[in-house]
Amino acid sequence: MDDAAQPSTARMIDFWLGGEHHLPVDVAAARAFEGAYGPCAPLFRDLRAFLGRAVRAISAAGVDAFLVFGAGVPTRGNVHEAAPEATVLYTDVDPVTVGIGQRILAGSDRAGYGFGDATDLTTIDPALLHRFVPGWGSRPVGVVFLGLAAFLDDATLRRTLDDLYAATAPGSLLAVDFDSEELAAYPQALAMMGPTFRMRPPKAFGPLLGRWTPTPEGIVPVTRWRPDGPPADLPDAFHGGLAVRHAD
Ligand SMILES: C[S@@+](CC[C@H](N)C(=O)[O-])C[C@H]1O[C@@H](n2cnc3c(N)ncnc32)[C@H](O)[C@@H]1O
Repeated sequence: MDDAAQPSTARMIDFWLGGEHHLPVDVAAARAFEGAYGPCAPLFRDLRAFLGRAVRAISAAGVDAFLVFGAGVPTRGNVHEAAPEATVLYTDVDPVTVGIGQRILAGSDRAGYGFGDATDLTTIDPALLHRFVPGWGSRPVGVVFLGLAAFLDDATLRRTLDDLYAATAPGSLLAVDFDSEELAAYPQALAMMGPTFRMRPPKAFGPLLGRWTPTPEGIVPVTRWRPDGPPADLPDAFHGGLAVRHAD
């Protein structure tokens, strides 16, 4: 079976967001998941709105270059659309999603897309990194780590976030989210997420951030993180926030 025959959570999200960059296997998987859980579009619209608020907050802090991990499909309010003046490198491990992203961004001189395993920074093409995230390691950048923590075990996640801390310059900001235990009540839906999927209680989030310091809001249900208006009435499926890389 080739990769294109495997559904991808990123392209399922594109389907739920009303995008155009998903495959029939993704639609089938999205519909099966909704059969086991319930409607997902409102949750993922809310999560994407959180991404927009977090990215705009990073831009407002004066940061103008972003590195995005587990980036998925770069449309529907993704990072370069939320920060139109910034440069952005999107990365992901799924070759089909990387190919879709490269086609979407072909010709852009501001945003690029390449392979990147978040758990191993050496997998990112240095030429792409320095082109789209200029000053990587020497000036503050935005690191976007959304939809990814749930697919990494605690030890790998802690080590990965610490490697990112070591690689970034002081003043860098991390946008991060975690999956709550929402799916515990939906065992069929939970099984569909695969054996590597990790739900976590809120008390687990802080220790995993290691040296990254959350902003005063903390890591909270995404709908309540600096909301633009009344928070949506949705299950607390995702908790997220921003964290700062201070000087050593
Ligand atoms: C739930 S999707 C989130 C996509 C996107 N961040 C969004 O919010 O729409 C998770 C993504 O993480 C990618 N992924 C999984 N493990 C990864 C890793 N070790 N490094 C980078 N990306 C990874 C998957 O291929 C998938 O595209």
